[in-house]
Amino acid sequence: MRKKIVAGNWKMNKTFEEANELIDDLVEALEETTPKRDNIVIVCPPFPYLEMASDIASDSYYSVGAQDVSAEESGAFTGEVSAAMLQSMDIEYCIVGHSERRAYHGESDSLIARKVNQLLANKIQPIVCCGEVLEEREANRQFDVVRRQITDGLFHLSDQQILNVVIAYEPVWAIGTGKTASPEQAQEMHAFIRSLLAEKYGKPIANEISILYGGSCKPSNAKELFANPDVDGGLIGGASLKASDFIQIVAAMNDARK
Ligand code: 13P
Repeated sequence: MRKKIVAGNWKMNKTFEEANELIDDLVEALEETTPKRDNIVIVCPPFPYLEMASDIASDSYYSVGAQDVSAEESGAFTGEVSAAMLQSMDIEYCIVGHSERRAYHGESDSLIARKVNQLLANKIQPIVCCGEVLEEREANRQFDVVRRQITDGLFHLSDQQILNVVIAYEPVWAIGTGKTASPEQAQEMHAFIRSLLAEKYGKPIANEISILYGGSCKPSNAKELFANPDVDGGLIGGASLKASDFIQIVAAMNDARK
């Protein structure tokens, strides 16, 4: 059975002190929730805080993820962080292909595919983001866009490799806007993504892959989003910056009857 996951993407927020405080609050709050077997909580702070988050994680049940990785193995790439570096710090997950990186750093599907390869080669699970912008949805092109992102970003992988990938559907028009996809819109796209995976890899493999929803997911809507059969949790931005909000979303995952 596929895993349910709630991952917090802190993006470029918090000083070191604030980050430390948030982690402490999170650990305390997690102690009061009952973790469910196979449910995973991931915290993705900025690079400089990974070690701190990872040290504290050993006393709690959350895992740590990075927000990006280089497509290169090593060498003269100033400012870049390699998958091998992340592996050497026991980082287990890494977000790639976030719409903010696609939009502000011109990341293409082929670059994202290379980042995925680096991560898998270093035994780190990629959380691969996909999703359409508002104009694409208004033109009813959302399925074509997501099909291209999934096909070009992931379909070079073997059966064994794809099983180590987590997918996050984040409609760009819902990110940081307060506008959430309706549970029906989320389910429709998640089922579409799973059908693409089933066409390429077969149903049993498609059924093992966790597909998370991201985009203004918060305590008030997490429950109805997570109740959908193909929504396996969430990738949380703004609401992951406050332990009390994030923990309510974790609780919504734990309570989801599926
Ligand atoms: P918000 O939850 O702030 O909309 O951000 C979602 C996101 O981009 C997570 O990666």
